[in-house]
Amino acid sequence: MQFVEAHGAKIPVLGLGTWELSGRICSRVVEQALRLGYRHIDTAQIYENEREVGEGLRASGIRRDDVFVTTKVWTTHFTPHDLLRSAKDSLSKLRLSEVDLLLLHWPNPHVPLAETLGGLGRVKELGLARHIGVSNFTVALIEEAVKLCPQPLVCNQVEYHPYLDQTKVINACLDHGLAVVAYSPIAKGRAKNAETLTRIGAGYGKTAAQVCLRWIVQQDIVAIPRTSKLERLSENIGIFDFELTEEEMRAIFAMATPKGRLTDFGFAPKWD
Ligand SMILES: NC(=O)c1ccc[n+]([C@@H]2O[C@H](COP(=O)([O-])OP(=O)(O)OC[C@H]3O[C@@H](n4cnc5c(N)ncnc54)[C@H](OP(=O)(O)O)[C@@H]3O)[C@@H](O)[C@H]2O)c1
Repeated sequence: MQFVEAHGAKIPVLGLGTWELSGRICSRVVEQALRLGYRHIDTAQIYENEREVGEGLRASGIRRDDVFVTTKVWTTHFTPHDLLRSAKDSLSKLRLSEVDLLLLHWPNPHVPLAETLGGLGRVKELGLARHIGVSNFTVALIEEAVKLCPQPLVCNQVEYHPYLDQTKVINACLDHGLAVVAYSPIAKGRAKNAETLTRIGAGYGKTAAQVCLRWIVQQDIVAIPRTSKLERLSENIGIFDFELTEEEMRAIFAMATPKGRLTDFGFAPKWD
């Protein structure tokens, strides 16, 4: 497995997303993913599956230190006091002494960013998170966060797939040495029917979803596809034995549309 490195963090370039996975399916999918070679699991407090993610991790028999575990703090816990309590709560559900990466799940303009980042830095100092980062931060918010945070931020997790041009935010991350982690990397499943991806995949004996994920990791961007189906776990990790040409990469970049964003909420920041 390749890694993306940022401020001392070594993030496996492919991880398993777990949003909407719950109960036994969640723990089985996590266990099986790790047995198949995944070494990076993405969860969040708001997914309410940290307990099951921890169970899958233990059932896999893979050594704790060989797996990169990310969780996220929800925006209602952004005062330093709440943030610390929330991080401890996540760890007790995961039954881990620390996570590899703890993220602010979304920006929250109602709590001063300096306070929240101070709290996040404190969680790291206490050894509860090996690394810290943000999610759904825009260029302006990244600039602000990098200035205010007492510790280095190692990543910004954002929506990214062929339908959404994220050049601006990706460049801002690179300027500050942050890794980019792509969520919804197969566009919530939509990429599986894309004509361009299917056509390119036919030349390599790969599916459209595999071409889509390959396009992301070939940009040194981390992808965290989610599946509830055991058979798709091996499909989604089977992307390291072929390489897209520059022309193919360009054809996939050309799929972006102005309406390509799939995740938007009333509380979202003003996107770049
Ligand atoms: N930071 C944030 O705000 C944020 C927001 C959204 C997501 N995330 C993270 O990113 C992860 C991934 O994003 P996502 O879950 O939104 O979307 P995604 O991974 O792009 O797509 C998941 C969907 O695609 C299907 N799928 C998976 N592999 C497939 C394949 N090989 N062929 C065809 N369909 C396939 C899955 O269905 P089956 O289950 O039927 O396979 C599921 O419906 C999440 O699980 C979560 O961990 C973070």
